[in-house]
Amino acid sequence: MDNNSVKDYINKIPKAELHLHIEGTFEPELMFKIADRNKIKIDYSSVEELRSAYNFNNLQEFLNIYYTGAKVLQTEQDFYDLTWAYLKKANEDNVIHTEIMFDPQTHTERGVAFDTVINGIHAALKDAEKDFGISSKLIMSFLRHLPQDSAFEIYENYFNHRDKIDVLGLDSSETGNPPTKFREVYNRAFGDGLKLTAHAGEEGPAEYVWEALDLLNVHRIDHGNRSLSDNKLIDRIVEKQIALTVCPLSNLKLRVIDDLKNHPLKIMLDRGIKATVNSDDPAYFGGYINENFIQTADALQLTINDINKLVKNSFEASFADDNRKIVMLNKLDEFGF
Ligand code: HPA
Ligand code: ZN
Repeated sequence: MDNNSVKDYINKIPKAELHLHIEGTFEPELMFKIADRNKIKIDYSSVEELRSAYNFNNLQEFLNIYYTGAKVLQTEQDFYDLTWAYLKKANEDNVIHTEIMFDPQTHTERGVAFDTVINGIHAALKDAEKDFGISSKLIMSFLRHLPQDSAFEIYENYFNHRDKIDVLGLDSSETGNPPTKFREVYNRAFGDGLKLTAHAGEEGPAEYVWEALDLLNVHRIDHGNRSLSDNKLIDRIVEKQIALTVCPLSNLKLRVIDDLKNHPLKIMLDRGIKATVNSDDPAYFGGYINENFIQTADALQLTINDINKLVKNSFEASFADDNRKIVMLNKLDEFGF
């Protein structure tokens, strides 16, 4: 199979995205437009100048610029426009199910109400279901650099928005902020019946992945690359079929890997790990989901079988209800090889 047919297959195959930060889809053009209407000054003079600042040596350097960009978002319409722009792109990439993380503390800490954030995002998700047939789940994520008390305060909002929030997540600066810091709030959410995920093993050690599994009871791991350094952990992940939501272009941009040719995705598949491909923060990392698949397939010589397996994993590992999962897996069967 030549490269062009793999690329064509990737573009057309129906797929799910399971690791996507909505604040990370904020394209410079939209950022300038919203800043203008909110009368906020951006530190950069043009879209080009802003984009040229997107060179990162590690996760923290990225996060600093990502949180600055998010400050432009103020009204429900802003959150709607941000989410809608992503969903239009996802539809073009043939995404039929998406699970979106949002960071409420990034907004409530600067005086934007939780309801403003969630209502704007949710309205766009409903419109995408109607207009594009894209189903979705919303993941409320805690910022791990903040104390657990702050996470507990944010968690209280869940009870007013049970109809909109299905999953809990954990993101931001990993090193020095182990999963155990959040074990009580996760245990509470587990008791309340929420689905759970957490970033672990992106920059942090395999030990953090163990903690996320053993102490937070997560159903999925976001990133998880560092799991490969621990054979016992691999056995556990494979045995329990814990999915890893892998983000190849993010890993490259944040220097988790030095070259896409050295990305561990193929090794993960070969070892029986339920890996999936996702875009993380596509406005900052140079590509939406199809671009992640295409560049990784090219670098690792992935076959159509590998692509199909990755997509199947994404449907199986999604938090969609069983009926929707069956529909999505049937679509994949019909699409074929
Ligand atoms: N890692 C941790 N936190 C994040 C990321 C990421 O890749 N993107 C947005 N917040
Ligand atoms: Zn992420």
